[in-house]
Amino acid sequence: MIIARTIDELQEAKRERKGSIGFVPTMGALHQGHLSLIQQARKENEHLIVSIFVNPTQFLEGEDLDSYPRKNEADTKICELAGVDILFMPNIDAMYEADELCIGAPAIRGYILEGEKRPGHFDGMLQVVMKLLNLSGATNAYFGKKDAQQLALITQMVRNYFMDVNIIPCEIVRDERGLALSSRNVYLQGDEKERALCLSRSLKRATKMVMAGELNVETIKREMFNVLKDADKVEYVAIVDRAFNALEEVEIGNTIILVAAWVGKPRLIDNIWI
Ligand code: PAF
Repeated sequence: MIIARTIDELQEAKRERKGSIGFVPTMGALHQGHLSLIQQARKENEHLIVSIFVNPTQFLEGEDLDSYPRKNEADTKICELAGVDILFMPNIDAMYEADELCIGAPAIRGYILEGEKRPGHFDGMLQVVMKLLNLSGATNAYFGKKDAQQLALITQMVRNYFMDVNIIPCEIVRDERGLALSSRNVYLQGDEKERALCLSRSLKRATKMVMAGELNVETIKREMFNVLKDADKVEYVAIVDRAFNALEEVEIGNTIILVAAWVGKPRLIDNIWI
């Protein structure tokens, strides 16, 4: 595995590679969820690039940029064992210059739900994903469905900017009790681990209601709020179509049910595609 820390090193490592490039962008602190993206990308491409970069522009003032878990040594081992060809670990100076040209999230879909609670987050996320997709020259880029709104906005960016890359959505990975894996789960202490399960439980409850024929969005959301009583603060429960337009009734095959809530220190998100 080649470790590239500069743009030149990455370009050099990519030179003369023929065939498809799979790309998995990450912020590190790799867990089984990342590994499942890496494994899928490994199977489906001739070459595999993973990036680890804790992107400062997608963190808001007061968020956990400084304390975000960083585990470069362990992450490098995981990538090596998973058969990654190139691990790109740039520093901030390699990625940004002063007075950058910025791209912005769309005015509506980029500023609801996560975008409303974290205004500006998606601008920074799209900015770095654009850079990383261009740098990697990816044929196929892999993103988890757990960050469903992120995935929808990246798909839109690729469409709006006519970028030549396939965005591949990948399934959410959960622990044995149903908690969606996230690098921020390490912040959960004591009974918070138990209480955090209310997010996935609320989604299971919603799914059951839909399977029993209940399609009314308000009725389902009310029931979800009941299940979410174990969270310290629920930020939103939303039921939208796959393009993130609001729905009054669940449309089977075109719906995402999302939840964001604080449990102890971390703010957790989860969703289910129906
Ligand atoms: O999902 C993430 O880990 C990040 O938002 C991403 C896509 C790597 C961009 O920094």
